[in-house]
Amino acid sequence: MASTTKAHQRPEPRCSGGAGVGPANRVFVSVVMVAFRSEGFTSPSASAGGHPELRVVKWRASDMIETAPVRTEPHTQELVVIHRVFRREAALLSRFVTGCRPGDTARAAQVAGAVRGYTGGLLCHHRVEDELVWPLLRERARLYDELVQRMEDQHGRLEKSLLTIGDLLPRWELAAAGHVRDELAEHLTEHRALLVEHLDDEEELILPLVAEHLSAAEWDGVGRRALGTTTLGAILEEAGPDERRHFLAKVPPADRLGWWLIGRRQYQRQVSRLREPQPW
Ligand SMILES: [Fe+2]
Repeated sequence: MASTTKAHQRPEPRCSGGAGVGPANRVFVSVVMVAFRSEGFTSPSASAGGHPELRVVKWRASDMIETAPVRTEPHTQELVVIHRVFRREAALLSRFVTGCRPGDTARAAQVAGAVRGYTGGLLCHHRVEDELVWPLLRERARLYDELVQRMEDQHGRLEKSLLTIGDLLPRWELAAAGHVRDELAEHLTEHRALLVEHLDDEEELILPLVAEHLSAAEWDGVGRRALGTTTLGAILEEAGPDERRHFLAKVPPADRLGWWLIGRRQYQRQVSRLREPQPW
């Protein structure tokens, strides 16, 4: 009986396992790494100068040969960088929806696709915390049960807002109607306010507990799955030089090479198309 009943409407995202760009030819790796080692150079992403929405990142080949240091405690700054990605995307998507001309179904479809990508990423990100972080804190930091409950409640509210947004997308794509766009924009604005509150709380209140109660190995497990909730390009765009080296060091060498040779250009093309100023 229960198996035929919809227990709830919680969206079930398909979460991937890593932020790599796919395996490259491993035999080739060491040769090319040595070739890159001699001197840093600036990636084509730096030549995106003048693009109003694309952060210019000066890639250095030496970033590609970092090795991850052995850590004895959780490196919680990783989560702060990933949060920056969600903050950025939530802000951009709101603006893209608001800026879509009524009747422009092509742009509506493009932005709706990006909203779905964001939604999937955020839901997967929450799954990681729900499954790997909250249970450990409930077990080991019992004094802070209320805080963990607050995080779970915020996740619940965020998921509800994403469900509402997801329901509106097909209506908007149909004709890119102005009134649906406005409704969608309103929900995205509300969602963003919830998101910012939640991420602020996590960074201020939860990360110190993580540092105190989780081991470095446990946090590495969280980090591995959390990396899969967004793309490497999206993370590196938000990372400072040290953070960039840190994240790249966590990517397997073959995938790092794939990123260097192919992924970073693909990412730039993809976000440039989406963030291109609209002609009205
Ligand atoms: Fe969270």
